[in-house]
Amino acid sequence: MSTHHTLVTGGAGFIGSHLCRYLLNIGHDVTVVDNMSTGREDNIADLADNPRFTLRAADVSLPGSFVELDTLTHIVHLACPASPKANTRMPLDTIRACSVGTLNVLDLAARTGTRVVCASSSEIYGDPLEHPQNETYRGNCDPVGAFSAYTEGKRVLEAAAAAHVREGTNAGIIRPFNIYGPNMWPEDGRVVSSFCASALRGATLEIAGGEQTRSFCYIGDFIEGVVRMMDSDAFGPVNLGNPACEVSIAELAQLVVRIAGTGRAQIVPGRSGETHRRQPDTDLAARVLSWSAITSLDTGIERTLDWMSQVIHAESSVR
Ligand SMILES: NC(=O)c1ccc[n+]([C@@H]2O[C@H](COP(=O)([O-])OP(=O)(O)OC[C@H]3O[C@@H](n4cnc5c(N)ncnc54)[C@H](O)[C@@H]3O)[C@@H](O)[C@H]2O)c1
Repeated sequence: MSTHHTLVTGGAGFIGSHLCRYLLNIGHDVTVVDNMSTGREDNIADLADNPRFTLRAADVSLPGSFVELDTLTHIVHLACPASPKANTRMPLDTIRACSVGTLNVLDLAARTGTRVVCASSSEIYGDPLEHPQNETYRGNCDPVGAFSAYTEGKRVLEAAAAAHVREGTNAGIIRPFNIYGPNMWPEDGRVVSSFCASALRGATLEIAGGEQTRSFCYIGDFIEGVVRMMDSDAFGPVNLGNPACEVSIAELAQLVVRIAGTGRAQIVPGRSGETHRRQPDTDLAARVLSWSAITSLDTGIERTLDWMSQVIHAESSVR
């Protein structure tokens, strides 16, 4: 048995599957609690036969999901429907996972004396009035808007972690900014996966609005940051993102079309309640975790397109 045993909630999702693979590779035992609401067996199919990997099909909102986990050394709490398509389709499940689910996870950490890292989101900054966003900025959020189950849910997650830390729990918070890469599926409703899928199918990339910016961080860089946060005692919250890769959504579409060599970009009306600009200030991550993202957007999109072209090829050969 390994001396490290990590619980990854949401381990069958996009980020969780990469994290599980990384941790198994460095010798951890890994237990996943995932209700498979947005996760996919395909993401973790290659891990299923590993004797150090256990998948528990269970919901973080139920305390009974966390029995018999006395040997834990680390917890990473990722469980929550993350894409706007998923969390607007399941607003109650989203806010329940962020609130009740987070309290269950933090209670488990307190009970077992385990370090826990909770994934918040850059969405807690809302439509920011400060740019770039530093961790001290408190955000500009609509508590009852279309995306509020997610944005306010993440703010509850942060408050719950802070309350636990005040009572002695070893908890930390990370704020991811637009992570992307392989294992983001064509129909998951996120901008990078939607653009890559449309380009590879030779279809139109619909750019809603287009002038709004996001800063895209490649999954490999991000996982390094998560692991450094697991191994630290920092509370944070710590922004994890790539400030060098801030682009407008129109520029992102053009880049995907250029690298894929197929597809065409077209502007369509923007969404109401859209966030105008997002760029992380990552000085705290550099100082506390000695971490910064290094993968260029061109390289990351190339790798994402390579992975997704296999998925789309497999889909078309089944038809
Ligand atoms: N991907 C990003 O760019 C990004 C940005 C900011 C924050 N985050 C946060 O990181 C975490 C992981 O994101 P992701 O992109 O991998 O999302 P994802 O939707 O791919 O994965 C989430 C996983 O959580 C599981 N899950 C959802 N509700 C659950 C519940 N009640 N009980 C157990 N499992 C549950 C899903 O089945 C899925 O496997 C989320 O908390 C998300 O809010 C992600």
